Amino acid sequence: MGNVKLYDKSFKPFIPYEKIEKAIDTVAAQLNRDFVGSGEIPVLLCVLNGSILFTAELMKRVTFPCEVISIKLTSYYGTTSSGKVREVMGMTGSVEGKTVIVVEDIVDTGTTIVDLDRILKEKGAREIRYCTMLLKPGAYNKDIKLDYVAMEIPDDFIVGFGLDYDELGRNSKDIYVLDKDITMKYFILFGPPGAGKGTQASAMVEKGNLCHISTGDLLRGEMAKGSELGLKAKALIENGELVPDEIVEGMIENKFDTVKGVDGFLLDGFPRTIAQAEALDRMLGKTKQAVTAVVSLMIPDETIKERILHRAAIEGRADDASEATIQNRIKTYHEKTEPLVDYYKKAGKYFEINGLGTIEEVRERIAALMERF
Ligand code: AP5
Ligand code: MG
Repeated sequence: MGNVKLYDKSFKPFIPYEKIEKAIDTVAAQLNRDFVGSGEIPVLLCVLNGSILFTAELMKRVTFPCEVISIKLTSYYGTTSSGKVREVMGMTGSVEGKTVIVVEDIVDTGTTIVDLDRILKEKGAREIRYCTMLLKPGAYNKDIKLDYVAMEIPDDFIVGFGLDYDELGRNSKDIYVLDKDITMKYFILFGPPGAGKGTQASAMVEKGNLCHISTGDLLRGEMAKGSELGLKAKALIENGELVPDEIVEGMIENKFDTVKGVDGFLLDGFPRTIAQAEALDRMLGKTKQAVTAVVSLMIPDETIKERILHRAAIEGRADDASEATIQNRIKTYHEKTEPLVDYYKKAGKYFEINGLGTIEEVRERIAALMERF
């Protein structure tokens, strides 16, 4: 069994089908022990959609007479419990005066169980028992007793055997767990010269435990060392031109390969051409990863000049020194880099932030955006 990829996330094998079957055998035996010969006709209540497979497997194994109905509630969105109060969207039969065996795929914090308990009592259930395929004991913090638990798991995000990630993965026989090691985040900090990319990078890096890679800073480092690469870059940079794609692509790949212990990367000033964006997609594709989001800081051309001229006095960057160079950087941006806006819009990854206002205001806008990923 290898990893499976669902949208942007990679999941690794966790519980094989054979093990799931054995755990269901055990739970079904407990149910049979409690209900066979009891004279009761309980109702198995399948909580849709996650419990479809588990309910079906239980039905094959229980030998007492029972009814089977289902209920649909609003539930999980993305990879964290939404915390919303669940509401009934439909229940296919009556529970009034009956013993109900709630069949859940997974019990996490238990908010769904609490809501179900209230709903079933309101609907007149005589007795309620809870049966779940999976329980996260580390997350469950409610008082309601769970009568039948097939398997306990740590507080990780899983898919398969009925469970989904944004509706995908339910049809897998085996259960998979989110592979955190290779679900890295790749943010691109985009924008014209002087938009505030470098300024905003530090807060973003701290917020997401990211590694900041500024190709401009790396190139200036090479120039300061006087390396062959630095010498090659110097003339281009001081003229406001881009350096060749292969140079920056090599720098980026080298960082991806060597930097460890972060949850992702913040790419500042890369990619800057369509060719670089395609190279980035290829690099990430090799390990089944992808760009998470493009955070685009937008400011008008007049502001670019003002900010850069202001910075020239403080930092002494060679490419800030002359108006002609600044003008050419702006021109290069519009010609070569701006087409990336459409490239990432088409991929649904482009998020524009107003770069005007104070540094703090812009930082807050970015932080609010990052919350979504
Ligand atoms: P690079 O270093 O990336 O320069 P750039 O894209 O021109 O961007 P800057 O670093 O000038 O601006 P920034 O957005 O970081 O703004 P900052 O935060 O400093 O690239 C340099 C050169 O390297 C390129 O021209 C190219 O030749 C080469 N290169 C780099 N990457 C390449 C690639 N991928 N391919 C090919 N060539 C590549 O802010 C600017 C100023 O404004 C600061 O003084 C700041 O304090 C101020 N400021 C920031 N925010 C605000 C605010 N909200 N209000 C007021 N002032 C603000
Ligand atoms: Mg910068």
